[in-house]
Amino acid sequence: MQAQKDYSLAGRPMGVKGRFFAQLMRFAHKKEYQAVADALELSGKDNLLDVGCGSGEFLALCSKQVHKSAGVDHSPEMVHMAVKRNRKRVEQGLTVIKEADSASLPWPEGSFSAASGTGTFMFWPEPEKSLAEINRVLENQGRLVISLGWNAEDGQNHSDRVAKHGIRIYSEKEMKTLFKVAGFDQVMVHYARAFMCPRLMVVKGVKG
Ligand SMILES: C[S@@+](CC[C@H](N)C(=O)[O-])C[C@H]1O[C@@H](n2cnc3c(N)ncnc32)[C@H](O)[C@@H]1O
Repeated sequence: MQAQKDYSLAGRPMGVKGRFFAQLMRFAHKKEYQAVADALELSGKDNLLDVGCGSGEFLALCSKQVHKSAGVDHSPEMVHMAVKRNRKRVEQGLTVIKEADSASLPWPEGSFSAASGTGTFMFWPEPEKSLAEINRVLENQGRLVISLGWNAEDGQNHSDRVAKHGIRIYSEKEMKTLFKVAGFDQVMVHYARAFMCPRLMVVKGVKG
């Protein structure tokens, strides 16, 4: 289950084009952010980790609902943008953004009560290792919600996108298996509508 390591602009936004792309994502992913936030059922006690946080827009939207939050992205430019977007909370010590890969998260185990990934999972070259890492940094009963705008259940032909972006297209069955193997129980999948995604897949698991 390996995607390509040489990331496309969407998989690792860099430079002027990368920053422009990230700005577009902020608007294009609005409904996806909402679907993931709803599934997470956030509360004021939560410490949220957003993996592949990009511009930091999802963290900014959730900031009023959670106690603390963190973001991680493997693109230094996205880390910079996410810090800027969440400047006030970063200065208050309520949000931290780090540069790292999803397969090696720089936090000790049990650091978070909730985790998310919007529009990013399909790029991860090591999905099993990344899910196990997220499971490790979540506390017991912590929730993970991942959204997949493009997936094997949406009736679309993704072969051009797979070639262009080096992504992997997952089925519902594959996602449930990956979550369970990584240590998540009560894995649930539902679908929502989002921009350019007729059947956004939203996968939720709880650390057992
Ligand atoms: C399409 S963008 C989505 C950004 C953001 N989640 C959003 O919805 O606006 C994908 C993001 O995932 C990040 N990413 C991809 N693979 C990653 C990995 N293995 N580890 C950390 N970040 C990753 C990219 O750098 C990029 O910022």
